[in-house]
Amino acid sequence: MTLLSDQLNLKPQDLQSYWMPFTANRQFKQAPRLLARAQGMYYWDDKGNKVLDAIAGLWCCNVGHNHPKVVEAIQKQASVLDYSPPFQMGQPLQFELANRLTKITPPNLQKVFYTNSGSESVDTALKIAIAYHRARGEGARTRLIGREKGYHGVGFGGISVGGMVANRKMFGSMLGGVDHLPHTHNLKEQAYSKGQPQWGAHLADELERLVALHDASTIAAVIVEPVAGSCGVIIPPVGYLKRLRELCTKHGILLIFDEVITGFGRLGTAFAADYFEVQPDLMTVAKGITSGTVPMGAVFATNQIYDTFMTGPAHLVELFHGYTYSGHPLACAAALAVQEVYQQEGLFDRAAQMAPHFEAAVHSLKGAAHVIDCRNLGLMGAIELASRPNAPTARAFEVFLKCYEKGLLIRTTGDIIALTPSLIVEKEQITHITDTIREVLETVE
Ligand SMILES: Cc1ncc(COP(=O)(O)O)c(C=O)c1O
Repeated sequence: MTLLSDQLNLKPQDLQSYWMPFTANRQFKQAPRLLARAQGMYYWDDKGNKVLDAIAGLWCCNVGHNHPKVVEAIQKQASVLDYSPPFQMGQPLQFELANRLTKITPPNLQKVFYTNSGSESVDTALKIAIAYHRARGEGARTRLIGREKGYHGVGFGGISVGGMVANRKMFGSMLGGVDHLPHTHNLKEQAYSKGQPQWGAHLADELERLVALHDASTIAAVIVEPVAGSCGVIIPPVGYLKRLRELCTKHGILLIFDEVITGFGRLGTAFAADYFEVQPDLMTVAKGITSGTVPMGAVFATNQIYDTFMTGPAHLVELFHGYTYSGHPLACAAALAVQEVYQQEGLFDRAAQMAPHFEAAVHSLKGAAHVIDCRNLGLMGAIELASRPNAPTARAFEVFLKCYEKGLLIRTTGDIIALTPSLIVEKEQITHITDTIREVLETVE
């Protein structure tokens, strides 16, 4: 019988085989941070120390950790149907979940394609966009437009349209035929904005420049995160996304919203598309779909896109794409239970109600040591720090380590602290998060 994680007593030499993702492996293995258990808003490390989770795991555990209803659903399903092949076969929960999800998706998005992660959702959406244009006779539309500072996972499609330099520079030429819109982050114009900044909608017009350069007839899709998360929570300027929608529609370009972080209540609405009242043609999700419990992602598409593929002889496969684990039974069971919890506990509304307190707490860090910006929307917040001369990221990483020592898990990216607590977070916990960060900031150089 394999030991459970909290029964293992790992020695330094036991840490050498595992190559950790997006991690400073050598630093970690010198001073490991091992999470062994979780409940609600908290983790416990392998020594039994309690850690308040200010980032919902990794922007994903929206219903809080180890929710009993979700745990039960996964356990039950594991004993009923472990696996079923998703190609040319189905299992009931896939259909049930798709029906359930399309009750809360924007009204134009009524088809669901399952994946296992955000990266796979992104690559799936990009492929659907290109194939869709080809299927309807505009096969020259292959160009993809992303945005600087965008994060769309780590597949070749995702890093090609993505705009975080460190995630791209080591990996060669990536996909051809990709261009980027400028990002919208500008501290001079936007610092300390509460909610959406007023300045910057005009940056959407840069799409016109790219259309003029490449011609619309070569462009398949534009992909953006409605609120950019991983690069440090960049909130879209008022009117920006609507303008982007108008321009995409004008030029016959599909608009893809990557809602891997913003989906499932993060802004106090089911999706950011609802919050901003902008409907994309394709939408990618993951994370909150199962509240992080079992890997799962999905792409939502319009009926029109789906129907475009439903031609030709009925016995032929229409889209040559999918994953061994698309719509896995455990993931579907988890997702169904999570959707139930969202609804029964009114968690999207709860996030909306908590947002003003969260905003006040995040902005209370204005004036704290090293802080050069605070920004927020829904339950997404960021505190940007001045970088140490010649040592970008070092200060924020130290803050991360010191917060962890004080029993608080935050996330840093560059010199930005990102906060995205579970939707069950309490006011006192929010206050504790920002108070701890303030204390720690005073102790770092
Ligand atoms: C907007 C966005 N897209 C895609 C991804 C990739 O998701 P995954 O890590 O599940 O592949 C992420 C992950 O943080 C994300 O934030």
